[in-house]
Amino acid sequence: MAIRLATQNSAMSDFERLNAIYWALSTNLIHKVPGDVVELGCNAGLTSVWISQIMQDLAPERELHLFDSFEGLPAGGPLDSYLKRGDCRASVDDVKANFDTWNLPQPHVHPGWFEQTLPDGLPTQISFAYLDGDFYESITTSLTHVYPRLAPGGVIIVDDYCDLDANPRAWDGLPGVKKACDDYFGVNAKVLEVLGGVGDLSLAMIRKPLDDE
Ligand SMILES: C[S@@+](CC[C@H](N)C(=O)[O-])C[C@H]1O[C@@H](n2cnc3c(N)ncnc32)[C@H](O)[C@@H]1O
Repeated sequence: MAIRLATQNSAMSDFERLNAIYWALSTNLIHKVPGDVVELGCNAGLTSVWISQIMQDLAPERELHLFDSFEGLPAGGPLDSYLKRGDCRASVDDVKANFDTWNLPQPHVHPGWFEQTLPDGLPTQISFAYLDGDFYESITTSLTHVYPRLAPGGVIIVDDYCDLDANPRAWDGLPGVKKACDDYFGVNAKVLEVLGGVGDLSLAMIRKPLDDE
């Protein structure tokens, strides 16, 4: 499944990224970190079906919530020049079709801009979050609403976080993502770890401390 998805979705994900998600999400579910699972910036749902399959295998009682404008990206700021407003557009029907293709239960889909959908749409407790909003403001808004609801021991994976000191091969196309995380947590935050890979993986993992209630 992962190889097919990585091939189909090569512009937005790859096998190494899917592997990192598998490792982080399955560890969380096996250790029974409480809460639901969310993806912010789901696009057509091709990474979401991977997340859903892992949930079906390990914790089918958990709910999956997906968020996207379904209008593509918003206008970017000065650090977000690689992509522009309206890029990466997909539809709710694309998401539904991909879940049907893989015979997975339909997730909760929240169409609209994060600023509007996250305050009321996010579950009260989150076990695992995948943040893939690409731009500085989108990641800032995502962290602002997700981190306070993250369960102790819960994990956020942020796509496109590039720290060339930690991983010189990482892809550095969207520097607003790192800046948003560093502004939110502080540059040397102990909660944030850069995930390495053999390719150009750019991922950060944020784990809420177990004693953080
Ligand atoms: C790179 S795509 C996500 C790819 C997807 N996670 C995957 O792995 O297939 C980024 C998505 O974030 C969405 N997005 C970015 N900023 C947003 C915002 N502020 N509100 C809602 N959606 C946003 C875009 O519409 C786009 O579909």
